[in-house]
Amino acid sequence: MLSKNSLALASALTITMPVALAMGGSPATDDGAVAARIQPVAHVEVAGSAAKAPGGNRSGEEMVKTICGACHAIGAAGSPKIGDKAAWAPRIGVGLDVLTKSAIVGKNAMPPKGGAADATELEIARAIVFMTNQSGANFKEPTAGTKIASNDRSPEQIAQSACLKCHETGEKGAPKLSDKAAWTQRASKGLDALTKTVIRGHGNMPARGGLADLTDAELKATIAYLLKRVGAN
Ligand code: HEC
Ligand code: HEC
Repeated sequence: MLSKNSLALASALTITMPVALAMGGSPATDDGAVAARIQPVAHVEVAGSAAKAPGGNRSGEEMVKTICGACHAIGAAGSPKIGDKAAWAPRIGVGLDVLTKSAIVGKNAMPPKGGAADATELEIARAIVFMTNQSGANFKEPTAGTKIASNDRSPEQIAQSACLKCHETGEKGAPKLSDKAAWTQRASKGLDALTKTVIRGHGNMPARGGLADLTDAELKATIAYLLKRVGAN
C-alpha cells in the first residue's frame, strides 16, 4: 500500500515539476515570451477549474495544478514551495486539520482557500496532502465524509492558528500576551466566565476567536494555555 502510494506521488511529482520549471526555473531569456506562455495557460486553467468544479470533488493534484501551484510550485509571494522540506516542516508539525483551517481562512499573503472561493474543505485538505506529502509529510488523504476538523487539536495548536494573531501583537486592542497586568485583571473573573465571553465574542474579538468549530472544552483549554503562558492565574 505504502509503496504504491509513494509511486503515485512520485509520478505526480514528475507532472508537477515541469510546471514549476516552466514558471520559475528557466533563466530570464525573454520575459515577454515567458509571460505570453504563462498567461494563456493560467486563463485556460481558471476556466477549466470552474467548469470541472461541480460537486467540489477535485483531487489534490487537480487543485494544486489549477490553483495552489500558481504560488506553491515556485514559492511565489513567500509561500512554502512544494518539495522544500525545511519550509514545510514547522507547518506540517501542526497537523492536517490545523493546516486545512489555516488555508481556509488564509494567512498573510495567502488568500482564503488560495483564492478558490468555491473549494470545499475536503478539496483544500486534499490539495494540502498532495503538496505536503512531496515535502516531507506523510498525511493520509481524507476521504469524502471524513470530518476533517476533528477535535484532536492541542490548545497550543489552536492558539497558534487562531488566537495569537491578535493576542501576540495586540491587534484590534487585544490584550497582549506580554501584558501580564491586563490578563491578571481579566483572569480574576475565573476561567468559566472568560470562556463564556470568548464563546460569545467580545468587543473586537469574534465569537470563539473566529474558529467557529471550536468546542467549548477546546476553547477553555486554550484560554487556560494562554493564561499559563502569560503567567497569570
Ligand atoms: C497567491 C499565492 C497563493 C496561492 C494561490 C496559494 N497559496 Fe498557500 N500560501 C501562500 C503563502 C504566501 C503562504 C505563507 C503564509 C505565511 O505563513 O505567511 C501560504 C501558506 C500555505 C499553507 C501553510 C499555512 C500555515 O498555517 O502555515 C498551506 C497549508 C497552504 N498555503 C495551502 C494552500 C492551498 C491548499 C492552496 C490552493 C487551494 C494554496 N495554498 C494557494 C500563498 C498562496
Ligand atoms: C481578531 C482578533 C482576536 C482573535 C483572533 C482572538 N481574540 Fe481574544 N480578544 C480580542 C480582543 C480585541 C479582546 C478584548 C475585548 C474587549 O475587552 O473589548 C480579546 C479578549 C480576550 C479574552 C478576555 C475576555 C474577557 O472577558 O476579558 C480572552 C480570554 C481571549 N480574548 C481569548 C482568546 C482566544 C482563546 C482566542 C483564540 C481561540 C482569541 N482570543 C482570539 C481579539 C482577538
